[in-house]
Amino acid sequence: MTASILQFTRALAVQAGQLILQERNAAVNLETSFKDGVELVTQVDVMAEEFICDRIREAFPEHRILAEESAPDMRDLSTYKGPLWIIDPIDGTVNYAHGHYQSAVSIAYVDQGLVQCGVVCNPFVDETFHAQLGQGAFLNDKAIKVGEKTELRRCLIATGFPYVKGDMTPLLRRVALVLQECADLRRLGSAALDICWVAMGRIDGYYENLSVWDFAAAQLIAREAGARYGHFKPVPDGVSAQFHNKNILIANPTLYPLLDDLLNRADAVQLTLP
Ligand code: IPD
Ligand code: CA
Ligand code: CA
Repeated sequence: MTASILQFTRALAVQAGQLILQERNAAVNLETSFKDGVELVTQVDVMAEEFICDRIREAFPEHRILAEESAPDMRDLSTYKGPLWIIDPIDGTVNYAHGHYQSAVSIAYVDQGLVQCGVVCNPFVDETFHAQLGQGAFLNDKAIKVGEKTELRRCLIATGFPYVKGDMTPLLRRVALVLQECADLRRLGSAALDICWVAMGRIDGYYENLSVWDFAAAQLIAREAGARYGHFKPVPDGVSAQFHNKNILIANPTLYPLLDDLLNRADAVQLTLP
């Protein structure tokens, strides 16, 4: 990958970040709706996605784009080897619509089936994370490293919960065991930022089921910062681990197996739910 693609990606994420920041500052009332009746989306999600996709199409007309708001084509994602952009125009939309600061633009560039560079920009606190494969991870151009904790009881864990309320029992079992065995738990509302926060030690471990645009950029940032990225349940045959969106687990290499074990032990937790 050329350095100019990284420069392009960073500039684009920062520009889109300014757009979402300015739009929210200017809005008296953000226009919101619900995808499939449950998932909140604002007009700025769509506007920011169009802005990003238009810039990519101008610069790289032959590249494929997978973006959250425009009926993303998930076919052959695990086997596709051409240049591909994976975009979440606002990760943390619920926070965004409620006036919180934990929201970000996430852009990943993929080639040869591997994420080559990733940028996550939170314009509300002026923090931009970036990584290039094999070149380390950075926050506002300063190198970052995953935290060094080794004991679960000292760890701050982050996770998230689905919009669609299905059977919550497995999630609640995990939460019960995390609360019992770790220091505390956070639900911050932006998976991309949760993962970047693991990459720079604000959070010690993270697990969740996601969509690929939530984590494509951030997982590279975490790995380049020294974190282990994987899954606490088996990845199905033929599916690229880099894009597998279920049971994601990210932590430093010492904590990873401890959390993996904890999340699997959670399956046996007895819960009493109404
Ligand atoms: C959501 C956030 C949230 C996670 C959800 C995602 P969105 O993305 O990353 O933290 O728990 O699973 O869908 O909808 O704000 O782009
Ligand atoms: Ca998202
Ligand atoms: Ca989004």
